[in-house]
Amino acid sequence: MAPQELHDDGKHKEAPTSTCTPPGSNSNPSGAVHPTTSSPPSDASGHRPAAANPFPLVLKFEEVVYKVKVGQATEGWCTRVVSSACGGRAGTRKNKAAALPPREKTIISGMSGAVRPGEMLAMLGPSGSGKTTLLTALGGRHRHALLSGKITYNGQPFSGAVKRRTGFVTQHDVLYPHLTVSETLWYTALLRLPRALGAGEKRAQAEAVARELGLTKVAHSMVGGVRGVRGLSGGERKRVSIGLEMLVDPSLLLLDEPTSGLDSTTAARIVGTLRRMAAGGGRTVVVTIHQPSSRLYHMFDKVLLLSAEGRPIYYGRAADALSYFASVGFASPLSVNPADLMLDLANGMPRTTPPHPSPHHPSYSLSLYFS
Ligand SMILES: Nc1ncnc2c1ncn2[C@@H]1O[C@H](COP(=O)(O)OP(=O)(O)OP(=O)(O)O)[C@@H](O)[C@H]1O
Ligand SMILES: [Mg+2]
Repeated sequence: MAPQELHDDGKHKEAPTSTCTPPGSNSNPSGAVHPTTSSPPSDASGHRPAAANPFPLVLKFEEVVYKVKVGQATEGWCTRVVSSACGGRAGTRKNKAAALPPREKTIISGMSGAVRPGEMLAMLGPSGSGKTTLLTALGGRHRHALLSGKITYNGQPFSGAVKRRTGFVTQHDVLYPHLTVSETLWYTALLRLPRALGAGEKRAQAEAVARELGLTKVAHSMVGGVRGVRGLSGGERKRVSIGLEMLVDPSLLLLDEPTSGLDSTTAARIVGTLRRMAAGGGRTVVVTIHQPSSRLYHMFDKVLLLSAEGRPIYYGRAADALSYFASVGFASPLSVNPADLMLDLANGMPRTTPPHPSPHHPSYSLSLYFS
């Protein structure tokens, strides 16, 4: 499981391939250097050079672990009710500690990877595997005390400058229900775009984002979503949330489940937009996603597959995942959606039995997930 060496100087030197390196095996037996990670995206792959983005940002994370303390009693109405029911004895510090000893729970561990300008990384895994937790950590939104490992942005730790260049789209949209789509975009442009830009330019940018995301048809519809205010569909709301982050033209865009609850066409349209932002605009994009269709899967440059226990199973090029799993004994027909195979594996449902489940065979560490 040891990831290959990461360089933190922000230069395009080298990057890890599969983090799921079974004991005693070579994760890259062919010796081939990872095409997406060894060099900036080429024109041959349809990518424009990362120079389109004035502030290209290389995101690297190494052995990231996130732990929380669980089982700690906190003073709240519940504790107070129990306390008074027990004659005031249950709420004492001594009794609380005895009843609920705090323990540490590891949410994610051993997460390593790198995403460069022009690339889109998708984090896949079962529900509760820690995708949101890792994404939140990459966005600098976790308390440091609970987080260990190394996360760098162009070789530097998280800072105010990185924060200003980072867009974060949460799983659940947070929008004002009584504003229309165009008002939402317009006010965000006023608040978040540089003062140096004139009102006309800000309005033009807001309209460009609405066009890009196919929101012009609903530009004058209220966002809605609260009782009594009918509004946008789920897909439209999600596109507005993405638009608010696109407006500020982030170098690093992190999106939590941007396609959940959407039909496959809308989902493909959104991921296509994100892909253009990455490949065409030199942005660094990370998304979490539950069960991408085959069409969506092939839009990703890299994939990080998490196990239900919050450990990495695969990290590498999306296009290489099937051959990697075939090489460790989990072959599947070429016609299969790679995401389906990967999610089955992450959920402990092998499609084929590993041929040599011995500790010395590459398939061994994967077979552990199936026990
Ligand atoms: N602060 C916390 N305290 C206790 N448990 C937590 C905390 N934060 C996350 N967890 C647990 O960690 C696990 C991972 O949560 P997370 O939201 O990252 O999963 P996920 O992969 O994003 O799931 P989903 O696909 O359903 O969104 C869950 O079991 C969650 O309950
Ligand atoms: Mg989540």
